[in-house]
Amino acid sequence: MEFATSAEYERGIKKVIITAEEIQQKIAEAGKYIDSLYDGRPVLLVSILKGSFIFIADLARAVSVPCEIGFMQAKSYYESTQSSGVVKITMDLDRDISGCHVVIAEDIIDTGRTLSDVVKLLRERAPLSLHVVTLLDKPERRIVPFNPDYTLFTIPDLFVIGYGLDYGEYYRNLPYIAEYGE
Ligand code: IMP
Ligand code: MG
Repeated sequence: MEFATSAEYERGIKKVIITAEEIQQKIAEAGKYIDSLYDGRPVLLVSILKGSFIFIADLARAVSVPCEIGFMQAKSYYESTQSSGVVKITMDLDRDISGCHVVIAEDIIDTGRTLSDVVKLLRERAPLSLHVVTLLDKPERRIVPFNPDYTLFTIPDLFVIGYGLDYGEYYRNLPYIAEYGE
């Protein structure tokens, strides 16, 4: 994707819906939630790439329990007649997770397809525990039932950009979350 002018790029940033300060406040609370789950035991924070790369960096710094960071990239493929798809792991974790307390950090839950598949796959690997923390949730868009353990912000059915989330691979570096506009 290319922008003919910088005005065209800027037009994509229609309206800020969550400020950088609001994000940091909610991340501090999410860090305390993770601490309360594990009570000093080590945890493996798993970032689902690419969208959660900024979120995991801030979330990891809000957690006080000992933590490792892992990265995974997943794509869900599905037929319209199926409720859940087949998840394709384009980049996998570099360690065995049996014996680990795992927290998945996701940028946004939309249809629920990606996370329901990723959770199913990671459960097969028998972690000691598995929790899902999502920065954003758009429950109105759900196709596959999926409830995260912890949500920082519930938003209406809007396409959003910034703080890791992209439109055509751009806008991930915005420090806030905005509605995208054509
Ligand atoms: P799901 O499998 O439909 O829940 O897909 C979730 C993935 O779709 C997220 O990890 C994002 O990469 C992408 N996505 C869904 N909604 C948005 C949005 O509003 N902005 C940017 N990416 C989105
Ligand atoms: Mg994503």
